[in-house]
Amino acid sequence: MQTLSMQPPSVSSPFQKISNALQLSLNPEGFFRKKLYRYDGAFFLSMPGLNQILMATSSEGASEIFSSPSSVLTSSLPSPLQPLLGSFSLILLQGAAHNRERRMIRPAFQGACLRSYIPLIHRAVDSTLGKHALDKQVNVQCLMQELTLDVIIEVVFGVTDVERKVAYQDAVRKLLATFTPPLMLLPFMRTPMLGLGPWDRFTKARAVFDTLILEDIDNAKRKSRADDTSGATQPSDVLSTLINLQDEQGQYLSNTHIRDELTTLLAAGHETTANSLTWAIQLISTHPSVESRLVEELMTLDENASIEQVMKLRYLDAVIKEVLRVHPVVPLVMRSVMSDTTLMGYDVAAGTYAGIATYALHMNPDIWTYPEEFQPQRFLDNDYSPQEYVPFGGGTKKCLGYGFALFEMKSVLFKLYRHSSITLTSNSKISAAIQGITLGPKQKITVSLSPR
Ligand code: HEM
Repeated sequence: MQTLSMQPPSVSSPFQKISNALQLSLNPEGFFRKKLYRYDGAFFLSMPGLNQILMATSSEGASEIFSSPSSVLTSSLPSPLQPLLGSFSLILLQGAAHNRERRMIRPAFQGACLRSYIPLIHRAVDSTLGKHALDKQVNVQCLMQELTLDVIIEVVFGVTDVERKVAYQDAVRKLLATFTPPLMLLPFMRTPMLGLGPWDRFTKARAVFDTLILEDIDNAKRKSRADDTSGATQPSDVLSTLINLQDEQGQYLSNTHIRDELTTLLAAGHETTANSLTWAIQLISTHPSVESRLVEELMTLDENASIEQVMKLRYLDAVIKEVLRVHPVVPLVMRSVMSDTTLMGYDVAAGTYAGIATYALHMNPDIWTYPEEFQPQRFLDNDYSPQEYVPFGGGTKKCLGYGFALFEMKSVLFKLYRHSSITLTSNSKISAAIQGITLGPKQKITVSLSPR
């Protein structure tokens, strides 16, 4: 028997679209919580400048989205990130081109390559945390941003020289700071204004960043060719891996192509990890029983324990999973609908969008008991499916750096809590706000550190 599908509701008025955008930006988690309780498993969202979006809040809906082929659902375009990422970015490529590019780049984030970055991640974490080991007042988000930027610069761009690192830190901060929400959301703002407007500031910052990165790509290529002839071993960083990748015709990637992918990794990997770590410290600090159990587990290892030993700690793993459930820093996953289809019982037309409201799914009481509570134990007692728990998205576009991010988060929390007692010195009640492309804490979180 054929089941009948439903028509989407009529498109919202411009006023309703603006009201949605405002509510979403003022209180994103509250917005999704309201939708979860008001609608059963899915809701339609209208935003300025976009066609309708069908959002899933149930595991059945998430499963349909993740299992749809890329000829039906693919990377969502237009994207506000286009000027930052560049046209070769994996995040923006659609359909078969995305699949091809992903196949090519994926090895840089798996198996032996991923393992070869571990010492670099460890070293970058050690050097940044070492600088702040005895600080009495630490702004947690700033520390985590400094740390994850250090890791990306060293591990992804392969930069270890101290002066060069400082030049990169400066260039990256300016690049991200000048790519402001109006430039992201209002394409007409992307025009020069006598060298003084926001677009001019962004293109200047972009030029400085491009010069650095293109020089390093050239240098890395020269070094790699010289190492090939001398038989020396390759350094283990993502740039070195990318310059040796070949497409199906045996062609190496162009410098612009490598630049776009490195910029993508920077944008996708820096603030996501920094904000997830910031939430982790806030949640651990406000749940003393979680903190004492975590510290007890960490103390079972020697302070110089290998990352392999750290990766096996079960409670640390559960704590990180629960942090990413309670505060998914990417609160929704979006796809462009490429051909007319039926999703979650609705007729969905080509040219519209479909997605998963990750935060709502992670708060869905059909899946989680006491969903609002921070209970790492749930991940020791239960297994959750890839449609129920989606902090890294899923399907053909699942986060490429999730293994990398977990290594980094575990390494940071191990070193931080193994060496220091951490006391929260700011308010314990914190809400979420949209920051760049992620959700971070609206209020400043500060802690004091003392040797354990
Ligand atoms: C806690 C940290 C992180 C979180 C929560 C996170 C989350 C996500 C999410 C939700 C997506 C979209 C997935 C989808 O559309 O289904 C994504 C995509 C992506 N992430 Fe991450 N991410 C993190 C760290 C990283 C890191 C460290 C890197 C690399 C260094 C990275 C690289 C990427 C890339 C390249 C994509 C695009 C994949 C594609 O379009 O095929 N991410 N991430």
